[in-house]
Amino acid sequence: MAKIKTKYICQECGYETVKWLGRCPECGLYSTLVEEIIEKNESFLPLKTELRQPMTLKNIKNLDETRVNTGINELDRVLGGGIVTGSLTLVGGDPGIGKSTLLIQICQSIGEKGLKILYISGEESVRQIKLRADRLNITTDNLLLLSETNIDIIENTINETKPNLIIIDSIQTMFASNISSAPGSVSQVRECTSKIMHISKLGNISALIVGHVTKDGSIAGPRILEHMVDTVLYFEGERMASYRILRAVKNRFGSTNEIGVFEMSQNGLREISNPSEFMLSGRPLGVPGSAVTCSIEGTRPILAEVQALVSYTNFGIPRRLATGMDFNRVTILMAVLEKRIGFKLGNFDSYVNLAGGIKITEPAIDASVASAIASSYKNKPIDSNTLIFGEIGLTGEIRAVTMSEKRVMEAQKLGFKKIIVPKENFKEVKGINGINIYPVSTVKELLDFSLI
Ligand code: TYD
Ligand code: MG
Repeated sequence: MAKIKTKYICQECGYETVKWLGRCPECGLYSTLVEEIIEKNESFLPLKTELRQPMTLKNIKNLDETRVNTGINELDRVLGGGIVTGSLTLVGGDPGIGKSTLLIQICQSIGEKGLKILYISGEESVRQIKLRADRLNITTDNLLLLSETNIDIIENTINETKPNLIIIDSIQTMFASNISSAPGSVSQVRECTSKIMHISKLGNISALIVGHVTKDGSIAGPRILEHMVDTVLYFEGERMASYRILRAVKNRFGSTNEIGVFEMSQNGLREISNPSEFMLSGRPLGVPGSAVTCSIEGTRPILAEVQALVSYTNFGIPRRLATGMDFNRVTILMAVLEKRIGFKLGNFDSYVNLAGGIKITEPAIDASVASAIASSYKNKPIDSNTLIFGEIGLTGEIRAVTMSEKRVMEAQKLGFKKIIVPKENFKEVKGINGINIYPVSTVKELLDFSLI
């Protein structure tokens, strides 16, 4: 067999060398050289011009995207209505968050539809997977398990068994024998993924690939995988807490704003179909520093509690901390409160937290963050039946948000009586019965209405 040649190529500047180097001599960056195959024994297909004719939209036949429901509604919604046949989906997340659990759980319902699933694990033995499957009541005969890490053997197995769905757990443990670097390295991960992509597109097989997240939050280094697959899902949540949030980061077949909420229980992952109730459970009532807001995640409104603690600092430099939301945004809101209301926050440590472990980036939560900070600073509680939303501008104005009606309806459903909304949104929500709406246009008005 001809020896396959590889080269090391700098991912930053394209410098090539035959030997691995820790630092690229061209651009001077460290650890950017990656092994790549330069000679593949593949014959090139001659270009057929008749297949390369541009076509008008009218002439292109509609692709019937067939979807398979996974039997888990929260997952189906995040995917945009089930797994598209022949698509490649990456499921990323911290170790121990529940990726393997989620993927084995969908096997029962898919298997019952008569579709064949091949579950390939490079991390656990088939006995270990069986133990878990037994605990999760997976009994389908259409699930085949394989413990293997060599991608070429996996390719053969797939060709022989002809499954409808393959699950690769995880891509970091797989290796291709024509590359000498260790499993999990950038070149191995890329090569293995491109092989799976090839198998999947050729045989119209759907593939779910598990990817571990590195410390800085990207999958296997420089996010190479995200470009290759159709859909990227991230599994988030605190390991110690029981809830898990599944989020689509990229989706060629649906929206990326949807989130799925799960709870890790004794019997695997349980769906949380009413996340608002879940996020507000155990909320302290009538204490300073707590405000409730509503954020739109995808098509769904979710209520969340913002907590703030502002306490006098004994050191020169006050500490500031924000979890679950953008830190810089919180700093801006504090500056607005200092300038427009006259708060002396420079002498206080401030901690802001979104309870429930959820992350919200929507500016619509601004008003509730500012109210929670003010409530803790003034030591005055916010009425526990109050919900606050609105974006805050730098001059202290409260700006309109989208889908205000949906937010108010969700709050009404959960028994909130008083809702503080941006003045611009008032006309959209004033017709809703059984609820008191307070329109506000400045931060000053907001605090007058929210603090009691
Ligand atoms: P796992 O799916 O193995 O995580 P990942 O594949 O993302 O690394 O889940 C691991 C955790 O989930 C583990 O700490 C145990 C817990 N778990 C439960 O609490 N209940 C269960 O039914 C299962 C299967 C796992
Ligand atoms: Mg796992």
